[in-house]
Amino acid sequence: MKPLEIAKDIYWVGAIDWNIRDFHGYSTYQGTTYNAFLIVDEKITLIDAVKEEFTNDMFSRISQVVDPSKIDIVISNHTEMDHSGGLPKVMHRLSKDTPLYCSNNGMKNLKAHFHQEWNFQPVKSGDELSLGKRTLSFLETRMLHWPDSMFTYLPSDKILFSSDAFGQHYASLERFDDEVGEMIMPHAAKYYANILLPFSQLVTKLVDQVTEMGLEIDMICPDHGILWRKDPGKIIQAYAEWAKQTPKKKAVVVYDTMWHSTEKMADAMVEAFKDLGIEARVMHIRSCHRSEIMTEVMDAGAVVVGSPTINNNMFPTVADFLTYMKGLKPKNKVGGAFGSYGWSGEAAKQVNAELEAIGFELPNDPLRVQYIPDGDSLQACYALGEQIGQTLLKKVE
Ligand code: FEO
Repeated sequence: MKPLEIAKDIYWVGAIDWNIRDFHGYSTYQGTTYNAFLIVDEKITLIDAVKEEFTNDMFSRISQVVDPSKIDIVISNHTEMDHSGGLPKVMHRLSKDTPLYCSNNGMKNLKAHFHQEWNFQPVKSGDELSLGKRTLSFLETRMLHWPDSMFTYLPSDKILFSSDAFGQHYASLERFDDEVGEMIMPHAAKYYANILLPFSQLVTKLVDQVTEMGLEIDMICPDHGILWRKDPGKIIQAYAEWAKQTPKKKAVVVYDTMWHSTEKMADAMVEAFKDLGIEARVMHIRSCHRSEIMTEVMDAGAVVVGSPTINNNMFPTVADFLTYMKGLKPKNKVGGAFGSYGWSGEAAKQVNAELEAIGFELPNDPLRVQYIPDGDSLQACYALGEQIGQTLLKKVE
């Protein structure tokens, strides 16, 4: 468990979580890391901590650089417990007057989490903190993605410690973008789609603000995954693009099915998208994790959702997905609802109402087919796909 010197006297001292597969409902098939950083200056400074059960890993890494009890300053960029869980053990090792710098909301939230009277030093955007040879500055990034979130910037080394922003859930021994290459971008996109999407307007403002401030950035150090040093502008530009939620010529058909009837409807609709030259993906909800589906939804211009009716309701897995998608507030989508039923047939209407509540443009009424679709019914499904597809093409072309 070695630390890694990422710049002179600046160390990665975080932890690698190889085994996590579910991060509060987000599938993490390749684990994650909790990144923490140690700056050795006249004041020894720890930026962020790790999830509670990885605190000893962090101490082990810090110990190879300095005695952890010699830390002079602690900075908490974000209260969520994957970064603050280790703080009580850190603060316990330090003298009671060791300052803990965080945003004002960070102070409130850390108190509400740990109920400790640490020596909180709330900071706001523009505040600076001298460590001796180096000076840090702070930039509040409220609701990106918690009220407490902030960045810490080190101008002398042109390093931005960006908390969750620009992160990826990806466990590896490599620490830098140039060591892993392009394969990291889908992980970053999934992270954006599932964590930052609802705050896209704020992301746009933040990117503009950082550009106007003229911050020189040689390295971005997020709290998860690899660090961006080869081309930090690339991930900033990717965020600017994702935040726009520009609809692509792409459709996602999401469905669940009991006896393959709703599945047949989905397949017929996909044929229509294909014939219109629209990239299409079919995602069966019990085969694709909700967070994988949302990653595809992020840049899709059309999202069509199918559910059979069970006991007068939509299928529970469809309700799960719709609830999740609603919270992530995707914008600029054309959509539609469909589903097979036996006798009451409420599901497609319920799905349609949910899509409407999210703000989808719905050019058609929900399409229902009783029991098993015949040729005419499948033709109606194709026609629904065609109309949704044509509506999408008008928007994107
Ligand atoms: Fe990685 Fe919002 O915590």
